[in-house]
Amino acid sequence: MATDRITFAPLTEADLPLLHDWLGREHVSRWWGPQRSLEEVVRDYHPAQRCFGGPMFFFIRLDEEPLGFIQRYAPIEHHHEGWWLEIDDSGVRGVDVFLARESHLDHGLGSAAVTAFVDWLFEDPLVSEVIADPAPDNLRAIHCFRNAGFIARQVVKTPDGPALLMRYRRP
Ligand SMILES: CC(C)(COP(=O)(O)OP(=O)(O)OC[C@H]1O[C@@H](n2cnc3c(N)ncnc32)[C@H](O)[C@@H]1OP(=O)(O)O)[C@@H](O)C(=O)NCCC(=O)NCCS
Repeated sequence: MATDRITFAPLTEADLPLLHDWLGREHVSRWWGPQRSLEEVVRDYHPAQRCFGGPMFFFIRLDEEPLGFIQRYAPIEHHHEGWWLEIDDSGVRGVDVFLARESHLDHGLGSAAVTAFVDWLFEDPLVSEVIADPAPDNLRAIHCFRNAGFIARQVVKTPDGPALLMRYRRP
């Protein structure tokens, strides 16, 4: 899977109804939590939420077609919500991802999208490391992040339950 076919478009308000539809799909909600109302999706994913002043949420596109969703965050901006308290380096970014269509799973697309996204994150010289925190039993996601270069570290507690902290230090 050539990563140059993949691009990232910052989420706009107009994208929120489609994102709501995607989040309600069984293969996504299984790992992203129960179905949210459209109002909750607007609250939780509004593009006004930023990551160090830049966009936080992106649609993944494959040859211009919407493929899925990916978000970046800075752990230190979320300590007040109880997340990633063990990480206090402002250069760390985190990534969460899903593909919109179940039929797309297991074709290498997630690994390619995460690889391309991490490459883009490292273009910022201030980014020292990228983390991911899949559920310890989400083996597909764990393999996907491993394919993209992440190394599994330890199981940590998050407000959503246990997660496997995976780290990718700047090459
Ligand atoms: C996680 C996700 C983005 C990965 O994308 P993907 O395109 O399906 O993943 P890839 O095909 O690139 O890689 C999946 C890997 O997991 C492996 N895998 C799949 N199911 C597995 C299982 N039950 N046990 C072990 N490995 C498994 C695949 O064989 C593949 O590994 P390989 O390339 O070494 O053969 C996608 O599956 C998804 O959207 N899942 C639902 C939402 C989700 O879980 N998001 C992650 C939250 S952190």
